[in-house]
Amino acid sequence: MCPPQMDSNEQPAKRQLYLAPLADYTDAPFRALALECGASGTYTEMVSAAALAHSHRPSEILLSTMPEESASPPVCQLFGASESELAKAVRVVSRHAGRYSALNLNAGCPMPKVVKTGAGARLAADPAKVHSLLTAMRENTSLPLTLKTRLGPREDTVTIHELIDAAASAGACAVVVHARFTSQRHSGPVHLDILADAVARSPLPVVGNGSIADEASAAAMAATGVAGIMIGRAALGNPRIFAALAGGAPAPGGMEERMPLFLRHIELLESFHAQLSRELAGVRIPALEDFLLLKARTHLFRYFSGVPGAAALRARFNSARSMHDLLAQ
Ligand SMILES: Cc1cc2nc3c(=O)[nH]c(=O)nc-3n(C[C@H](O)[C@H](O)[C@H](O)COP(=O)(O)O)c2cc1C
Repeated sequence: MCPPQMDSNEQPAKRQLYLAPLADYTDAPFRALALECGASGTYTEMVSAAALAHSHRPSEILLSTMPEESASPPVCQLFGASESELAKAVRVVSRHAGRYSALNLNAGCPMPKVVKTGAGARLAADPAKVHSLLTAMRENTSLPLTLKTRLGPREDTVTIHELIDAAASAGACAVVVHARFTSQRHSGPVHLDILADAVARSPLPVVGNGSIADEASAAAMAATGVAGIMIGRAALGNPRIFAALAGGAPAPGGMEERMPLFLRHIELLESFHAQLSRELAGVRIPALEDFLLLKARTHLFRYFSGVPGAAALRARFNSARSMHDLLAQ
């Protein structure tokens, strides 16, 4: 996903709206659904470069894509802190020609288990390391490269300008910026003023991210001059947000209006499960009912949040023994 090239004075006619990488959520079925709902592009959840470099087979589930994604293949996101592991991981990923549109380096995840290895948001404090890791990736793939990062580690340490310059000089074609500092994790204000300054000085197109949930927040993000907008949490249970922000579909209504999208999501999950079982011989894939119930408990109940009776429905999702039982209730 490199945003369309533009003259410096020209904005793309259509808003570019991307689904953010969300660990445990942005699997192939949800990405496919986001595309059906108008997303311009999607990201895989982050995949460990160390796991791929050491041939950890279950990680292949995270690398799987569906035929429904072929018109707009996802960007594959990797996290890691070792040049040699990223180089190997990139070679593994690049074997799947056509499956991905680009590769991305995660330099924004604040989870302690990621940061303590030197990866994720640890890199937002170290532009030189970002340059070195992206260079190792660049030397091992012909796919476009992008970086996803934050404004810096803390409010008193803004590193975004150096991070963007590091990405540009290592050969990346775009940068996604979550307009928060690592110290904020996923809450607190987004700093659109700092983002706008970074966009103005950036030699690369910048995609803006952080708490876009409606037209007002999307318009404020667009006003920073970003080339595209990335949406994460607000798309969960509501992938129609892409169509809505592109100027189309109305907001989701009650239970009945939401049901078709929920059922389409289940259909995609079933078809993905069948595909995994066919393609990944030797990798343990949970039984279909367990797979669907796991997704229902982490994900699917969100389709009905805000609807009268949502709390009771969530309790049913948690106690159901099978998706069949749940749908029959
Ligand atoms: C549950 C969850 C999982 C996430 N997983 C990833 C990930 O795998 N890679 C990544 O770069 N960012 C990840 N993020 C950060 C999001 O991509 C995004 O930057 C952040 O949520 C802000 O955008 P939003 O306000 O639209 O959600 C995750 C965030 C959440 C809440």
